[in-house]
Amino acid sequence: MEFILDGFSLGDEKSIKISLEQVFGMVFKYVKQLSEKHGKTKVKDCVIVMPNYWTLDQRVIILNALAIADLYPLSVISENTAAALQYAMNRQDNTTHRVLFYNLGANALQVTLAEFRVANDTKSKSPVETVHIIDEFGLARVGGLDIDVLLAQHFTKIFENKYKKQLNNRAKVKMLEECEQVKEVLSANKDGPLVIEELFDGIDFQSKITRAEFEEVIKDILEKITQPIVPFLRANDIRPK
Ligand SMILES: Nc1ncnc2c1ncn2[C@@H]1O[C@H](COP(=O)(O)OP(=O)(O)OP(=O)(O)O)[C@@H](O)[C@H]1O
Ligand SMILES: [Mg+2]
Repeated sequence: MEFILDGFSLGDEKSIKISLEQVFGMVFKYVKQLSEKHGKTKVKDCVIVMPNYWTLDQRVIILNALAIADLYPLSVISENTAAALQYAMNRQDNTTHRVLFYNLGANALQVTLAEFRVANDTKSKSPVETVHIIDEFGLARVGGLDIDVLLAQHFTKIFENKYKKQLNNRAKVKMLEECEQVKEVLSANKDGPLVIEELFDGIDFQSKITRAEFEEVIKDILEKITQPIVPFLRANDIRPK
């Protein structure tokens, strides 16, 4: 994939073509400079974290970009594996147990089942914490943004029925942004009030939604982000209640 930067010229060219690798390479160069500045040391080696649903092509783009930035990846691990390592470093008890890491972002879901146990290191014979990633799966193109969109469609219908006016694109964007806030409020509260000043045609729009109504509005997405967990656990000999 290439981007075309209009208005930048090199010699006779009227625009510059720039590849995805070069764009990410610039980002990595900047990150490298920041790390060197704050760590007060040269940085060459790195560990790269990627979403577990990324394709080989996507991974190769990142590896090429690292080379552009003169960075050497010691290891590539998935985002949830990184979370599992963090959990292993901080866990207080020494029991063997399994943990499900459920990572729902704005646009994707990543699920990982990991087992934590303390084992004796074969060389030193001293106990070491071990992390075994048992299984994982990822779903691209489903996430928090879908919930915002459904909520925005719900409130837009209420607005349009009440005022007999159709929202323009600017108002729709405003509605979407406010609905993300409502969703976050509903994570910890039974009701989600919506107040948008000057939403459209000078109208201040106010409405609200209960948690139960919210769950009804987003039921298709809820199913999409929860149902795959059951066969995933069963496939790993865990019987969800
Ligand atoms: N308190 C909350 N309650 C519900 N949703 C929340 C809350 N805080 C953030 N979110 C939602 O979580 C999503 C962002 O999560 P996160 O930062 O993990 O995404 P991301 O890693 O950038 O996206 P992705 O992994 O899909 O590429 C957004 O949809 C945001 O609205
Ligand atoms: Mg994420």
